[in-house]
Amino acid sequence: MGIFKKIGDFLDERLGIRDILEQNLTKYLLPKNINVWYTLGAVLLALFAVQVASGILLLVYYNPNTDDAFHSIQRIMNDVPYGWLIRTIHAVGANVIILALLLHMLSVLFMGSYKRPRELTWMAGFLLFLLSLAMCLTGYLLPWSQLSFWATTVATNSSREIPLIGDVVVRFLRGGAMVGQPTLGRFFALHVMGIPLILGILVLVHLFLVRRLGISRPPFGPDWQPSEPSTTFHHEEHPGGIPFFPHYMTKDAAMIAFFLALTVYVVFFAPGLFFPPASFQPANPFETPVGIKPEWYFLWAYQTLKIFPSEFLGLAVQGLAVTLLLFLPFLDRSRERRPKHRPLFVAGYCVGIAVFIGLSIWGHFS
Ligand code: HEM
Repeated sequence: MGIFKKIGDFLDERLGIRDILEQNLTKYLLPKNINVWYTLGAVLLALFAVQVASGILLLVYYNPNTDDAFHSIQRIMNDVPYGWLIRTIHAVGANVIILALLLHMLSVLFMGSYKRPRELTWMAGFLLFLLSLAMCLTGYLLPWSQLSFWATTVATNSSREIPLIGDVVVRFLRGGAMVGQPTLGRFFALHVMGIPLILGILVLVHLFLVRRLGISRPPFGPDWQPSEPSTTFHHEEHPGGIPFFPHYMTKDAAMIAFFLALTVYVVFFAPGLFFPPASFQPANPFETPVGIKPEWYFLWAYQTLKIFPSEFLGLAVQGLAVTLLLFLPFLDRSRERRPKHRPLFVAGYCVGIAVFIGLSIWGHFS
């Protein structure tokens, strides 16, 4: 014990470490009526940490070469000790992250916490969501299976419908006319370096904004009032609130444990859930497998492209939906955050969720 106190005293004298810890733990007060939805940010941080750790371990044996990529994954699954565990955690973890991201976004939308002054927090978050999807798309190609090859061929092919520059965009994404070694090279570079670098910086920006502005008070309870308009910076304080440590951190830890348990449950009891048959065959550009479907979180986009008379119209609708969501805090400017005082928004919110689920189910069975 004595040694830890000595190290603590040494650091405290030089860095004022106890003050930093106090300000961010016991003296960091959260709203009294804070709810469980506010744990999802911490859950995401933990899930991303697992992804980075398992991803680095996979890099030790993975080979980003079309001749060997598929076999290197086979070696990881069959020969490398615990390789199957690390690989399955990484693949399942990606799906759990998207689930947690969707829930985090839905809760922020429902409680209106994206509104002024948190517009930048929302926009940084939404870009994180798009980058996470890009991580999934680039990662999908790396095993160089039939699924990887054909899913990437279909996904990159849809850009062809962009007027004038469509063909150039497809060639740029693929590094050639077809999906091949140049595609694997660029997707690998983006997946392990390019996107994680930007993602890491954006996570820091997001956390800085959350901490600088203060957590928003949930818009529930009889005494909640919309804030007064202000043109100066204001940190939202919660006097008499709940200390982050130990009170809320315990809740964060419980939810992190739940999401990790969910991941581990799928890894051990349903390991094939995210691995259809085409993911066990090496890529073959001369044989199109039947029934290739994108991952569940891309099914809505896949189905949208199919239901519109032209793919270009489908792409335009998707682009519009993404742009509207990115700029939502500037479009929905009222200060009211209580769901029961925003019936129009809540109706649109429910319809949005129903359309997403409906299109996904339709896409799955079509
Ligand atoms: C890598 C992904 C992300 C991480 C690690 C992350 C992390 C966090 C954390 C730790 C918090 C504070 C606690 C909480 O409210 O949960 C937070 C709050 C917030 N996040 Fe995220 N987030 C991510 C993605 C997103 C996305 C996709 C959006 C929306 C598009 C978003 C919007 C917000 C907003 C508006 C808040 C403020 C909530 C408030 O003050 O009430 N975040 N995030």
